[in-house]
Amino acid sequence: MSTSEIASQGASESDRAAFRAGPVDEESRLRLADGGLDYRRVAVDGDDYAAWLQSAARGFQDGERSPEQVAASRERSGYRRVTGVYDPQAPMAEAPVATIASWIAELSVPGGAVIPSCAISSVTVAPTHRRRGVARAMLEGELRATRDAGVPVAMLTVSESPLYGRYGFAPAAAAAAWKIETKRAAWIGPRPDGRVDFIPRDRVRQLMPVLHERIRHRTAGEIDIAASFWDLFAGTNPAAERTGEKRAIQYTDASGEVRGAAVYAVRENEADFTKGTVSVHYLVAETDDAYAALWRFLLELDLVAEVDAENLAVDERLLWMIADQRAAKITVRDHQYVRILDVVAALETRRFGASDRLVLDVSDPLGIAAGRYLLETAADGTGRVRRVDDGEQVDAVLLTLGIAELSATYLGGVSVATLAAAGRVTVHDTAGGAASTSSEAVATASRVLGWHTAPRLSIWY
Ligand SMILES: CC(C)(COP(=O)(O)OP(=O)(O)OC[C@H]1O[C@@H](n2cnc3c(N)ncnc32)[C@H](O)[C@@H]1OP(=O)(O)O)[C@@H](O)C(=O)NCCC(=O)NCCS
Repeated sequence: MSTSEIASQGASESDRAAFRAGPVDEESRLRLADGGLDYRRVAVDGDDYAAWLQSAARGFQDGERSPEQVAASRERSGYRRVTGVYDPQAPMAEAPVATIASWIAELSVPGGAVIPSCAISSVTVAPTHRRRGVARAMLEGELRATRDAGVPVAMLTVSESPLYGRYGFAPAAAAAAWKIETKRAAWIGPRPDGRVDFIPRDRVRQLMPVLHERIRHRTAGEIDIAASFWDLFAGTNPAAERTGEKRAIQYTDASGEVRGAAVYAVRENEADFTKGTVSVHYLVAETDDAYAALWRFLLELDLVAEVDAENLAVDERLLWMIADQRAAKITVRDHQYVRILDVVAALETRRFGASDRLVLDVSDPLGIAAGRYLLETAADGTGRVRRVDDGEQVDAVLLTLGIAELSATYLGGVSVATLAAAGRVTVHDTAGGAASTSSEAVATASRVLGWHTAPRLSIWY
């Protein structure tokens, strides 16, 4: 597939299906076989799936899944490519000693386009088999399989931060967790004309994906969200626990169109009945009015002292809708990790912050995306990328950086200036002459690769 086709098509159902059914990476299969381990794909509708799911749950120190939970997972996991590593010598040889799952999703990038991106999840290695390179073999294998499928980007959310930089991943969209003291917050935002109403959980289950589908391209970092996640938020998965706690609301604008929805739960404070805590499980708003109306509703609930929400943007506009910004305790952490596999396809899909030229000298620990590239951006934000030939002199600002650092900038979540000051990238005034660095060169690179809004991913996967 050519770069422009990738950019215009997103991820087709046939590409997704081919990836799901594709083989495991041969290099990793041979490496694991050398250690007596069998690396193979697992059919979600086959006999091996239940044991795979139990191993993945154990890997995350979770309890055993009930037969209902296994059935519910099987029913909702058809979109995943599921792989296990098996030890034929183990007493429970049918249970994999390592697990990984992945699927082709669409990642929204700066400027409103989406790019096919391989989402990687369920990475576990049994404590009996840890620290002998099994995770490395699976991660490298999945990245090579992704590249071989012509998918230009990979992504994941992580349980532990230090694991994935070695494979070229970097945090590209941070997430903010909020704890809002409602008594101090005092709403000063808009008070739209529409109405907020309670709705049944199965109604919000239908509504949220429709609304999210309309808006996901607006925010870099978002992905198309699989059905199982909506069941989780809405509490409509038959195997879910404590679903009765979930309350669902919708916002209907003055013309009668539903523009937003939210699911939340209230936890009672037994010591003081007036001080309950609200957890916002998911809030989706198609319009500014829907956003304001839903948040105002949540912050003004009676018998509630605190509202908690996770995976918000680091530039969340809610901060400017409350009278006392210190009412919100905000914790920011790394969230959506990105790994560019095809520099040309990845960069040509996003839009850029300024019109200029940059030479990118990219190194890659896995050798997949290494090379010297010329990026030329236009006034409309589009960019063209080509490889620079050996010995070719180009008069443009030069960035020398690893693929992880380029991936960190991909969604506009960190500036080149910050990465340069942190010693993570080197900027030179020109790729063609002597090595010198001016503040203008750093500013140019920052403007080109920057974006005016922060990226955000609203789920953990
Ligand atoms: C994290 C986990 C997958 C690592 O599996 P593993 O097979 O022991 O890892 P490997 O032996 O392949 O190690 C690969 C590299 O990661 C490093 N590494 C492994 N676990 C690490 C940890 N917890 N913290 C920091 N580095 C770690 C190793 O030192 C090694 O580095 P190197 O190859 O650059 O020398 C495994 O311990 C596990 O399943 N943990 C619980 C579940 C979990 O956290 N999964 C991650 C989901 S995001």
